[in-house]
Amino acid sequence: MATQFFTYKGIPFPCLEYSPETLDYVDRQFQVQDDDIFNITYPKSGTNWMLEILSLIRCDGDPSWVRSVLNLRRAPWIETNRGLQNALRYPPPRLLSSHLPIQLFPRSFQSSQAKVIYTLRSPKDVLVSLYHFSQALHLYKDPGPMDAFLQDFLSGNLHYGSWFDHVAGWLGLRGQKNFFYITYEELQQDLQGSVVRICHFLGKKLSEEQISSVVKNASFQTMRENQMSNGSQIPDEYMDHQKGQFLRKGVSGDWKNLLSEEQSHRITTMSCERLHGLGIDFPWD
Ligand code: A3P
Repeated sequence: MATQFFTYKGIPFPCLEYSPETLDYVDRQFQVQDDDIFNITYPKSGTNWMLEILSLIRCDGDPSWVRSVLNLRRAPWIETNRGLQNALRYPPPRLLSSHLPIQLFPRSFQSSQAKVIYTLRSPKDVLVSLYHFSQALHLYKDPGPMDAFLQDFLSGNLHYGSWFDHVAGWLGLRGQKNFFYITYEELQQDLQGSVVRICHFLGKKLSEEQISSVVKNASFQTMRENQMSNGSQIPDEYMDHQKGQFLRKGVSGDWKNLLSEEQSHRITTMSCERLHGLGIDFPWD
């Protein structure tokens, strides 16, 4: 069962759950509040991991308060039809999610003090994670052979457009005091230190014990065993659970098992061309 796509301002979106009217509303009319916190990523960059961390931080590390991935009221996706309705009903302070590239993000954000946490990941691992996930999630296009999928990735012909544009666009905000970015790789290397940095950005004070609880409950193993966060409750209408898992491997460098040297080189070349100007030393090959 493959979904149909439409293009909005040059970016492909699946017809299931998305519409030009919703995207237009989000861009022009959605009112960002000063106390909003946004969890923003390109798909497969660690969105749900960060959501778990932010939800745990919000409830002082108490996992019993932490929610189902299906509970859209926990951190609704502002750009989906249903997510927008939930976001509009969400009592402040809101925790919101989005995969939107910056040019489609609500324009009211610019004059607000809302906080954005942007998580990014090695493009090669994003590609591989997306490749596997696309085989299971009906919202995405069937990936077909890797070479064709890579071509779509490089040209931005995928749900939410180009990874390179997404990253360059959002990282253009670095230095702004309501913008914080972190990599999936940093979360992996030092989850505790990352949680401390995120708390600092949010102005949230947690005890050492509470931080340890965030770290423990946001670990891959705990999330994978937790029915509320492992995606097992996603209805069959959206996902073929025989074909893929929401929490698949949770490692860095898995691209080495799937991409040829030539394919890897094409991504490296485009990364250098498109992101070199940012002057950031990314923690991946
Ligand atoms: P893999 O497919 O490489 O395993 P998103 O939430 O943006 O869809 O990202 C999904 C990716 O994040 C998957 O990568 C998933 O396994 C990984 N992930 C989710 N929770 C994680 C955790 N606690 N630790 C490490 N990786 C995690």
